[in-house]
Amino acid sequence: MPIQSVLEFAHHQATAALAPGDVAVDATVGNGHDTLVLARAVGEEGQVFGFDVQREAIQETRDRLAAADVAERTTLVHGGHEGMAKELPAAVQEAVGAVTFNLGYLPGSDSTLTTEPETTLSALDAALSILRPGGVVTVVVYTGHEGGPAEAEAVDAWAAGLSQEAFQALSYRFVNQKNDPPQLVVVQKREE
Ligand SMILES: C[S@@+](CC[C@H](N)C(=O)[O-])C[C@H]1O[C@@H](n2cnc3c(N)ncnc32)[C@H](O)[C@@H]1O
Repeated sequence: MPIQSVLEFAHHQATAALAPGDVAVDATVGNGHDTLVLARAVGEEGQVFGFDVQREAIQETRDRLAAADVAERTTLVHGGHEGMAKELPAAVQEAVGAVTFNLGYLPGSDSTLTTEPETTLSALDAALSILRPGGVVTVVVYTGHEGGPAEAEAVDAWAAGLSQEAFQALSYRFVNQKNDPPQLVVVQKREE
């Protein structure tokens, strides 16, 4: 069996941490592919919160979720992921099973409108604050656009600086692929 691609492995890690009825967050909904994976993993009784700063991305995701008949279990927020902790209801704070990030720019759209290291790092901290024990944060990072390498470095340094007692942090990337392949960081909050 071939080694899982970065995106497949990210989805595998996020969905392995989720059970029906769980709460998940897509921090960068974009075209909604990751949101749909999460919505399927949490099932009818679960909830997914999704964030994006572009109205176009929110609409595209809304359409995708509706077409897959999972819109009712999702709440889409047109706003920055750095505010995610404030947007989530009190009942689900520290109860989130998975938070996914897919950084960079919206495919097929303005490639200069990208995630930025400063807000990304603040959103990553927010993501850890809402995780339940055993919950995971997945971060897919692209280095092929301007600002991408600096963001990848910032995410790596953030993950490497996390307490080993509180979190497991993993870096997953192919080292012999051409054309700036994506990279993944996965962080799991340890069970108490
Ligand atoms: C690579 S795309 C996401 C792809 C998406 N996950 C999918 O499955 O299609 C990155 C997205 O991050 C969004 N973004 C940029 N800055 C953001 C922020 N501060 N908060 C939330 N989303 C942001 C962009 O608008 C863009 O849609």
